[in-house]
Amino acid sequence: MSAERSPASTERQPVRGERKPMPNGAAAYLAFPEAAHLFTEELHNRFGVAESEIASFRRYGDLFVLPHALEKTPYWCRTALTEPFTFSFNSIGEAAAELKRIQRNWAPYGFTSFRRTALIQEKLPYVNMKPKTFPVKIPTSPIGVYMLTDDHTMLASARTTSFLPAGTLEFKEDHENPPSRAYLKLQEALTHVYSRFGVLPGEGSRCFDAGACPGGWTWVLRQLGCTVLAVDRAELAPKLMADPLVTFQKHDAFTLPPQEIGPFDWVCSDVICYPERLLEWVGKWLDSGMCRNMICTIKMQGAIDWRVVERFADIPDSTVLHLNYNKHELTWIHVDGADSRTENAI
Ligand SMILES: C[S@@+](CC[C@H](N)C(=O)[O-])C[C@H]1O[C@@H](n2cnc3c(N)ncnc32)[C@H](O)[C@@H]1O
Repeated sequence: MSAERSPASTERQPVRGERKPMPNGAAAYLAFPEAAHLFTEELHNRFGVAESEIASFRRYGDLFVLPHALEKTPYWCRTALTEPFTFSFNSIGEAAAELKRIQRNWAPYGFTSFRRTALIQEKLPYVNMKPKTFPVKIPTSPIGVYMLTDDHTMLASARTTSFLPAGTLEFKEDHENPPSRAYLKLQEALTHVYSRFGVLPGEGSRCFDAGACPGGWTWVLRQLGCTVLAVDRAELAPKLMADPLVTFQKHDAFTLPPQEIGPFDWVCSDVICYPERLLEWVGKWLDSGMCRNMICTIKMQGAIDWRVVERFADIPDSTVLHLNYNKHELTWIHVDGADSRTENAI
């Protein structure tokens, strides 16, 4: 893949520090790993970009360069490079010096020239890109993204739409205790909540976990000290079934009236269902006044109906995100009073 030092590159005529902004209004979008097809689908179906135009965009792996920025950041984009420029350099030292001159924090997106990218990163101020242990807050200092398009050229932007390195949040995984990997989704969603609003479910919080089996989400809530009503058609893992602070109810989660089982501090759903059904259920909970905060996975069944996603996004005090640990899913998060709180962009 990467030509580290080809004869041709050794013979290259030195060009000193050529930094060129990209044409006015251009922006580059980094799709989530293995989700480039979902990103392009979103460009077409949500933003109305013609397929022929999408095919004409310059593309480096998961990074797409668009001649004009979109009015919103697509959900399937993990970070956008909003003021992209290219920089030609002769040496690794020169590349690192140019980035440092602009700002402190940079993260790479490795597409080619991996060794040279690693050597540049070593010369830059330290940025923690290791997998995190939950609970953790996302830092709030701007972080740029750069990538090498060949051994002597980088595409970069100091301004991006995420405070995460290359828009990626990864957790150190616990392979022993949680009964399913789905726990990572709730940890990631809660990390966004914690970073923006400084709140987390905790000791004394009463939570409802809809579609809870085998219990990854219930496990996260119990780790935080919450009491949980877990509802599913199938039982949870034995350890959770035996936990005195977990009440299991074998039931259709959507037919339990909020007034009868509420109130809750947090209502969560990872139920596999049509987005319309989830939207209707969410509306019932919000109208009932029986819950303050909600985290729900919107599971896409085939082509995404963007009108339904917009209806979720339009609910006051809420936001829709695609998470690193989401598959063909989006996550809807509602936090009591979110619209009036000081918000750290994520
Ligand atoms: C993706 S799994 C949930 C995984 C779980 N969040 C975890 O962390 O282990 C979806 C679950 O939703 C349940 N489910 C589907 N429809 C349901 C309904 N109407 N009411 C309750 N549970 C339902 C399924 O039985 C399944 O266990």
